[in-house]
Amino acid sequence: MSDTLDVAAIVGSLRRDSYTRRLVEALAALAPPSLRVEIVPIGNLSLYNPDDEPEPPAAWIEFRNRVRRAQAVLFATPEYNRSVPACLKNAMDVGSRPYGQSIWAGKPAAVISASPGLMGAFGANHHVRQSLVFLNMPTMQQPEAYISGSDKLFDAAGAFVNPSTREFCARFVSAFEAWIRRTRPSAG
Ligand code: FNR
Repeated sequence: MSDTLDVAAIVGSLRRDSYTRRLVEALAALAPPSLRVEIVPIGNLSLYNPDDEPEPPAAWIEFRNRVRRAQAVLFATPEYNRSVPACLKNAMDVGSRPYGQSIWAGKPAAVISASPGLMGAFGANHHVRQSLVFLNMPTMQQPEAYISGSDKLFDAAGAFVNPSTREFCARFVSAFEAWIRRTRPSAG
């Protein structure tokens, strides 16, 4: 389809067997063909230091260019100490500079959080949202997505254990597509 939307997914876990990454992979598989969700790696981004801007690390340049090409961003976060894991905050910081050249500004966004615990990483979800206000990203408000029991979402074959979680995730991605089409800069 000519109007396929390219969504950059930023996953706030570097763990090999990350439950959050598996969730995003499942979301990508549920997305309609008009929405391509691709995980953009952040594990190779060195800690943001403005002193490095005159000669930015190659990984920063590659990351910034990749996200720039996307029409929207999906932030998927686990929770570390009731907040955003450092790798995700670092990626947000790397993308936000140099001043005036943020890769995030104006791009539609959605946030999904996941935890093995009962609260679905609510704290991290809202800390991401706080940064998205400053980054000037129009962020989908509903449905909110706090996924609990992230360690028990899939069976051995990789299918959702609970059909209602699958149904929720499908609804989330289709709402996100509608949100992107409504709010992306070229939409006006
Ligand atoms: C955690 N975990 C965690 N979980 C939670 O619900 N709230 C929290 O505040 C924390 N804090 C926390 C801190 C640190 C340093 C670690 C390593 C872990 C548990 C966390 O949800 C669990 O490790 C998930 O598996 C992380 O997500 P991924 O890596 O599976 O995507």
